[in-house]
Amino acid sequence: MMRYAHVTGWGMAVPENVLTNHDLEQIVDTNDEWIISRTGIKERRIAAKDETTSSLALDAARRALSQTDLNPGDIQLIIVATASPDFIFPATACLVQNQLGAVNAGAFDLSAACTGFVYAVNMAAQSIRSGSLDNALVIGAETLSRFVNWEDRNTCVLFGDGAGAFVLQASEKPGGVLSCVMRSDGSGGDLLSVPAGGSVLPATHETVDQNLHTIQMNGREVFRFATRVMASATKEAVDKAGLKLEDINLIIPHQANSRIIEAAARGIRMPMTQIVMNIERYGNTSTASIPIAICEALEDNRIKPGDNLVLVAFGGGLTWGALVLEWTEPEIRPISIWSRRRRKLLLLLARLRSFGLRLLRKLEGFIWGASSQEE
Ligand code: ACO
Repeated sequence: MMRYAHVTGWGMAVPENVLTNHDLEQIVDTNDEWIISRTGIKERRIAAKDETTSSLALDAARRALSQTDLNPGDIQLIIVATASPDFIFPATACLVQNQLGAVNAGAFDLSAACTGFVYAVNMAAQSIRSGSLDNALVIGAETLSRFVNWEDRNTCVLFGDGAGAFVLQASEKPGGVLSCVMRSDGSGGDLLSVPAGGSVLPATHETVDQNLHTIQMNGREVFRFATRVMASATKEAVDKAGLKLEDINLIIPHQANSRIIEAAARGIRMPMTQIVMNIERYGNTSTASIPIAICEALEDNRIKPGDNLVLVAFGGGLTWGALVLEWTEPEIRPISIWSRRRRKLLLLLARLRSFGLRLLRKLEGFIWGASSQEE
């Protein structure tokens, strides 16, 4: 029996705080006209002090889950694609797992910069198609504002914060993820990086003074690379799915720069009416940009069951990739009011459970620690 991986739930979360181009004019030597004409960005969202990558990821995940008939305990895999994790470790995915009460899930972060969401959806879909699991949660989440040098006008105008999530479920009904191409070229790793904070340059006073914990980018080179790979990856993925470009209803590209998106559209001779673009309101939210754009396209009724979509992205690494997805009507499985209430309760209890587990661990440590010292 063939197995397919369908998207059955989706959700997004963005901070309330809006930073406009005019606000940026007060911070660095830039102007609204330059930013709009070179990037297409008008404003972006910036995380508040108490918001983190995991908190945005959790909000998006809860919304995605609430559209399905699943309880947190039904999720077997959580992948958080992110370039701005809460910590080097533990993985942001584990923080989400704990807050969600997804007690049966494996959880890990996926680092492929802005291409991360495309890679992660493919990884989850392949796990489902192979029969290894039935239900997965894939999240793209970022607080890149915490990794931006707010004195560098070349980069600080580009990035924003946000998260988007998909629930993927196994089905025997054809559709869902049809194909994917994943590519990389590490020779271009230095074109877009956060140089310090890893094993090469651990944090020192010097690395902080020299701003080496923030995003460094060769914009022109990244631009050239992006315009080259977006169209070719799209064509390759469509071909791999056994489709033609004429069969594609909508392209959802990574939102890095409107000029890159327009160049990619020209490269595949696709009218801009078939391309989703919301960069003007969010800037580049890296791994979150594609799921956020899909959530908005669904909200605007731009995606219908049976539509063939291409998700295409590029990013640091260098990485790039494209994924073809046949959007399917989620199977209508009636969810009773009691199931909904139960799920709400489980989500509420997850925090309590986390607190209880920590307390228990402390208690065990106290008891066993004390007795092993006595021996
Ligand atoms: N405001 C005003 N002037 C600026 C600004 C600014 N914010 N930023 C740069 N400039 C100036 C430059 O200093 C330069 O001036 P100079 O000629 O006197 O030196 C001039 O504008 C032109 O600079 P360019 O770099 O040639 O501008 P370009 O047209 O290439 O646009 C940009 C720059 C927007 C960064 C573009 O190269 C780009 O979008 N590149 C791709 C970046 C990207 O997508 N990165 C994310 C990848 S995804 C990920 O993995 C995170």
